[in-house]
Amino acid sequence: MSHDITVLISGRGSNMQAIHRACENGTLQAKVTHVISNVTNAGGLEYARHHGINTTVVNHKEYSNREAFDQALIEAIDCSTPAQLVLLAGFMRRLTVEFTQHYQHRLLNIHPSLLPRHPGLNTHARAIEASDRWHGCTVHYVNEALDGGPVIARAVVPIKNGDNVDSLSARVLAAEHKLYPTVVQMCLHGTVACQDSHVKVNDKAALNPLLYYYH
Ligand code: GAR
Repeated sequence: MSHDITVLISGRGSNMQAIHRACENGTLQAKVTHVISNVTNAGGLEYARHHGINTTVVNHKEYSNREAFDQALIEAIDCSTPAQLVLLAGFMRRLTVEFTQHYQHRLLNIHPSLLPRHPGLNTHARAIEASDRWHGCTVHYVNEALDGGPVIARAVVPIKNGDNVDSLSARVLAAEHKLYPTVVQMCLHGTVACQDSHVKVNDKAALNPLLYYYH
């Protein structure tokens, strides 16, 4: 069975690249078949084209409202063989309920904080500002709540003395690049699933999200 993945990006796409590299080196048994961006000149599109991955731009500015944009996005995603998973990887648009329900249990996101702490933007600055000792990233199923769907896994990194937004975001990003392919592999190959908004690991309801420490 082929495990096709569609990745949605808005920018440089380093998470998409990490997932693609994991597919290439066999640690992730899957194939990135389609990269879609809402931004015409998103850096990650260049990488995808260079590696022979099908790319599509659905520019949100060309649509009069969120519903019309999301409908066009659905058409772009579903135009070829349906992807087994749709991954948000730095895709910076809020999605409608119609969209998230269409891909229920097939739509994942990576967020640069230990959700539910610091949803939304500027997570690294907020973690430093709050004097948090730990920070990290979260992979979760996407539902209609912003950064609020069932959490599958978190990766924790320390906040060190003297950290600034650049040093902390680099540490978190390195963790993202390990966590996302790991979780995608588990979702595609049956270790992790979602039922009635609850995450199951090895067919049992997970009491807590999976936790990884990257020091
Ligand atoms: C990543 O840090 C990702 O977690 C974040 O955007 C960055 C994209 O980087 N996503 C969000 O903030 C979504 N709420 P990338 O384009 O290099 O993967």
